[in-house]
Amino acid sequence: MVDLNTLIVTGGAGFIGSALVRHLIENTDQRVVVLDKLTYAGNLESLAPVLKSARLIFQKGDIADRELVSQLLRTYRPRGVFNLAAESHVDRSIDGPSEFIQTNIVGTFNLLECCLEYWASIGKDERFRFQHISTDEVFGSLGASGAFSEDSRYEPNSPYSASKASSDHLVRAWNHTYSLPVLLTNCSNNYGPYHYPEKLIPLVIRNALAGKPLPVYGDGLQVRDWLYVDDHVRALVRIFEAGVPGDTYNVGGDCERTNIAVVRTICDVLQDLAPRTQPYADLITHVPDRPGHDRRYAINCSKLKTRLGWTQTETFETGIRKTIQWYLANQDWVRAVLENKYDGQRLGGGR
Ligand code: NAD
Ligand code: DAU
Repeated sequence: MVDLNTLIVTGGAGFIGSALVRHLIENTDQRVVVLDKLTYAGNLESLAPVLKSARLIFQKGDIADRELVSQLLRTYRPRGVFNLAAESHVDRSIDGPSEFIQTNIVGTFNLLECCLEYWASIGKDERFRFQHISTDEVFGSLGASGAFSEDSRYEPNSPYSASKASSDHLVRAWNHTYSLPVLLTNCSNNYGPYHYPEKLIPLVIRNALAGKPLPVYGDGLQVRDWLYVDDHVRALVRIFEAGVPGDTYNVGGDCERTNIAVVRTICDVLQDLAPRTQPYADLITHVPDRPGHDRRYAINCSKLKTRLGWTQTETFETGIRKTIQWYLANQDWVRAVLENKYDGQRLGGGR
């Protein structure tokens, strides 16, 4: 039988994973076992607010390690596994795709195999769930109108999105063929506290505060659909509790913005919170575009809203202000996660 009070979160020291773990420890009575390899993107500092909790168990390790994953499942008998472990940065996938294939595809395959074996060993307990966290990027790029639905065709364009698409297909197949109770979620761009400062929003905040150029790829008119990370976390928990096994759910912000508009908004909020004589916006610098850059993403998340009653709580204006305030107050976290790991050089220039 499963232990109804225990969950495993892979990638729980990353941006979204740590937000999920902090939420579970702070707002529920669940015991949470975190499995994380602590790559450059994984940092125990992101779990600092809950690290002392007796309900948090941290295991450093690789989701592709069969022995380790099986042992964790046997030992803790979780009622669910949230899979957020991944290589997540598109630019890095352009420079070096190999880790993306290994973690996102081989690692997910290993988790599925271990979970299937574990699920059989607990008599196929119907309360068990394997929840795979994926991205809207699997659907490719949109034209000027329309939005991705759960029925959109998979058309991944980058090594990153192709590896995520592959993992989604494996998850679907393990449900269809072996009846493993899986849930699949495809989400748009997240932002918020503890976001590794190589991604657009935290990079721009960091560079602006240092008086460095704010790099905007190409014309900056690419569109992303932004969701505050804690709203994503609430969606993940709601889907875990009430989603139909085998189903997929899109999660989005209903918040399309061009990249240049996002950068200008950050400059405006910074000007208000940390005034600078020469306006931050003067630092905006257009640089060569990302190879194969997807033009526009937008998510239709009406299935999640109507069937499971979830909705966003933050607007972009409230969310970005909270985010910037957090970075201003947590420069130590930024310094700690960057130490020896990333010197701010341009990534994703192509090979
Ligand atoms: P992140 O890069 O911040 O964190 C990834 C975490 O996974 C890190 O803690 C890292 O140490 C860990 N990890 C990497 N390889 C591992 C391995 N082999 N074994 C164990 N742990 C490993 O990523 P994120 O932004 O938090 O994204 C989490 C998930 O959500 C990813 O699957 C990503 O594709 C998906 N997603 C992200 C966004 C977004 O905007 N950030 C949007 C939609 C979906
Ligand atoms: O859509 C969901 C995806 O969002 C997730 O699956 C990924 O894990 C996550 O990293 C994110 O991918 P993006 O490529 O959209 O995020 P990034 O922050 O890297 O870039 C956002 C946009 O800003 C994108 O159009 C590229 C652009 N950009 C990015 C950087 C780092 C710039 O213009 N300048 C930059 O320096």
